[in-house]
Amino acid sequence: NTLDPHILIIYGASGDLAQRKLIPAVFDLYRGGYLPEKFALLGASRTDFTDEEFRKKVVFENEFFEAEGHEDKLDAFSQLLFYQDLKAYDGAEDVKKLKDRLEDLGQRFGTGSNYIFYLSTPPKLYNTIPKALADVGLNKPADGWSRLVVEKPFGYDEASARQLNEELQSVFRENDIYRIDHYLGKETVQNLLVTRFANGFFEPLWNRNYIQSVQITAAETVGVGSRGGYYDESGAMRDMVQNHLLQVLAHVGMEPPIRADAYSIRGEKMKLFQSLRPIKGEQVAEQVVRAQYTAGKTKEGEVPAYRDAEGVPDDSTTETYVAMKFFIDNWRWAGVPFFIRTGKCLPLKVTEVVITFKNPPQAIFAAYDDYAMKCDNQLIIRIQPDEGMAMEFGMKVPGEGFRVKNVDMDFFYRDLTTKDVPESYSRLLLDCMKGDPTLYARGDSVEQAWAFVDPILQAWENNEAPLTMYEAGTWGPVEADKLWDGVEGGMWRNPS
Ligand code: BG6
Repeated sequence: NTLDPHILIIYGASGDLAQRKLIPAVFDLYRGGYLPEKFALLGASRTDFTDEEFRKKVVFENEFFEAEGHEDKLDAFSQLLFYQDLKAYDGAEDVKKLKDRLEDLGQRFGTGSNYIFYLSTPPKLYNTIPKALADVGLNKPADGWSRLVVEKPFGYDEASARQLNEELQSVFRENDIYRIDHYLGKETVQNLLVTRFANGFFEPLWNRNYIQSVQITAAETVGVGSRGGYYDESGAMRDMVQNHLLQVLAHVGMEPPIRADAYSIRGEKMKLFQSLRPIKGEQVAEQVVRAQYTAGKTKEGEVPAYRDAEGVPDDSTTETYVAMKFFIDNWRWAGVPFFIRTGKCLPLKVTEVVITFKNPPQAIFAAYDDYAMKCDNQLIIRIQPDEGMAMEFGMKVPGEGFRVKNVDMDFFYRDLTTKDVPESYSRLLLDCMKGDPTLYARGDSVEQAWAFVDPILQAWENNEAPLTMYEAGTWGPVEADKLWDGVEGGMWRNPS
């Protein structure tokens, strides 16, 4: 393949994300033949491992490592993995050690000085590590390239995101900073762009003239489990809405990019985020519902209340559920209500986008029964699971008269290919290896997305909007249904 030889350095390599997602994703690329011929992976973290111990932990004894049917490739793969222990992530001595190690590996594997530095560390290290790399010139190697991958959270609010961007951009070029959002690695999220921009028949309908409302739901059955410590500082708005769901929204709502490249697509997203009508002050209580789960029973079993989860204070007011209504102030979407909803401990794990089209101007079959009135023209885009799309529309019930019934036309994404659909992390890592940031979040749009959620978070912090409770295993508080008041025939679609 045509990828440049390089070394992938994973900071925080003994941590959870590296084991669950990153190393398995690199293996997927390896067995698919996507990695460059000259490649090495260097894990770096504070734990004391030899190369062998590291390989054992992240490959041979890693419960998240799926090698079924490819066991014969494990040994050869593991030989590409190395480990460097660090005392501190930013110490001068450490970074010197790292540089020597990279030079050594570079010579052994013929990778030269092309590097991807993947920060799978606590966010407080996001500025110190890049600075330390810059101190020894690893951010801009003279005869190679250097890219930086950063995991969310990108800041805690607009101001901190801005500061983080400034710090990162002072040592790496914006196009070499890859802010990973794993939702953008999902095939179905990418497919939203193809659905919209490769098909002539959606294009004329995709606007305020024909669309009644748009809703995006990301429901999860799991609670916070053992992530309470992290989650309580974050909450559903920061954990899901500010990043993943606004990215999905951007794919649903953006204007047609002039080309399918990073510059055009990311530029259109930025414009979309700039068009979000701010929700401020009293509007927060009217347009946004925040809620927290109490004890209950979900598909996963009995769940204790969020406040009883490990690492969560007894009086926590962190939201595990958000539902909101908002508008996009541009020509395409003027007046169309958008709804986003996400929560933990809901009845199903499902992410979907529902486009509801306006009814025809006259319900001429209404006399036959009330079906005609209920006839929903909806396009349901299932992001996960059962990736695919369904179209709902009215058909005549066979027999006398003109009774109308809603029917489904269903397409399953898996029917498109017999190959495994690539995992998010594999796809995104591969793009970074190619030097293509299209599916990564750009700094300015991250700030813009924060600018939209900040006033809401602010109002919550000032207790200007109530926190409601919902029982684990239900679809959330009834208050969320009220957001639809005034939207003709509109309501959340709760898939079963
Ligand atoms: C992560 C959040 O970014 O996304 C988690 O931190 C959440 O809280 C997860 O569970 C959801 O991702 P997915 O791919 O399972 O929908």
